[in-house]
Amino acid sequence: MLYLNVDGEGPPTDDQREAVATALGTIDRAYEWSHEGLLYSIAYSPAYFGRFEASLTAAVDLPAPQSLSEFETPTFDTQDAVVHLASDRADTVLAAEEALTGEKERVNGVDVEARLTDAFTVDSRRTGFVGAGLPAQNQDVAGIPDSKPVPEDSPLFMGFTAGFVGNQATEDYVTLEDGPFAGGRIKAISNIRQRLDDWYLEQDHDDRVAEMFSPVHAEQGLVDGVGANLGDNSGIDEIPDDIVDQSREYARVGHAQKAARANRDVDGNVRLLRRHFESTDDIGSDQEVASLHFPSLQQGISAFEDVRRSMNGVDITAETPAVRQRVNNGILEYIFTRRRGNFLVPPRRHRVLPSPRPA
Ligand code: HEM
Repeated sequence: MLYLNVDGEGPPTDDQREAVATALGTIDRAYEWSHEGLLYSIAYSPAYFGRFEASLTAAVDLPAPQSLSEFETPTFDTQDAVVHLASDRADTVLAAEEALTGEKERVNGVDVEARLTDAFTVDSRRTGFVGAGLPAQNQDVAGIPDSKPVPEDSPLFMGFTAGFVGNQATEDYVTLEDGPFAGGRIKAISNIRQRLDDWYLEQDHDDRVAEMFSPVHAEQGLVDGVGANLGDNSGIDEIPDDIVDQSREYARVGHAQKAARANRDVDGNVRLLRRHFESTDDIGSDQEVASLHFPSLQQGISAFEDVRRSMNGVDITAETPAVRQRVNNGILEYIFTRRRGNFLVPPRRHRVLPSPRPA
């Protein structure tokens, strides 16, 4: 992910728009739009839209980022834009990045005639990976105990599979239906530091299942290893929803169980499309640190904020002494939000430095 600031004050210029359109067109021609080629998006922040006299219509739910619990103090990402590049091929991501921001004159056989850096300055560059094997290979970083506990077949540092189809919103569901940005999406991106010593050294598999999914998942032995046996659904909707009673019985609550409470609309549809991936970036520190980049797509930031706040479990800590702000409370003991930013991914027709009220 490249976090970018538009050069200069106020609305972007025609020259800047032309440079961005040409730069994006170049990588469109250079790579197939697929995970074997390159997938990417460009998204714009509330601060970017603040450069214009007009404001976004109220229908676009894009407030500035804020703290979402009493115990987190993230730095807010208020850069103008973020470009998110993804591929199964690391060399493709790196080549596309160089074409967009570097000295490269040709990319995959296509001439580079303009660069994003003709209009923007890169403020922050964030990298990551996801998929079985990669977390295990990259676990020699701060935040993971020296015993190298991350299983080889885990797609995430915490040792479980995530993002089951049945627990994710569909792309259609998170697509804006009305207004000038119809076809676009709202994207929240957090970066979450992980401290997994106690997660791995003080707990066994059942403890981790209880805190990640639910104590009922642990008791019934529903999760083998990293959880591939769950198929395409974590089964969180199948367990009883008396979460406060369960917290008293088991003296803890699960992360997925808490998040799911706010993650369904009145018709039972899942609200968030989570796209998280792991990182060893050293953002804000002098060493490589295990963290999670957490982009999430939804119809509006309030959906993201509802779900994140439901993870705080304040109703549960009020009723069950054993469950405290961060202890026995899902995975909150092990994760620390370092950064958060909110963005609009415009539909393709408005992807180049859009005004808040495009025609
Ligand atoms: C290091 C940090 C995190 C890890 C390793 C993690 C991992 C997981 C895992 C393994 C599941 C269960 C499987 C699944 O349904 O995907 C899950 C569910 C979920 N997590 Fe996280 N998560 C993290 C942070 C967060 C944060 C910050 C949010 C904020 C909104 C969040 C929201 C959710 C939601 C909405 C679900 C699905 C619940 C449902 O079924 O509706 N997670 N997570």
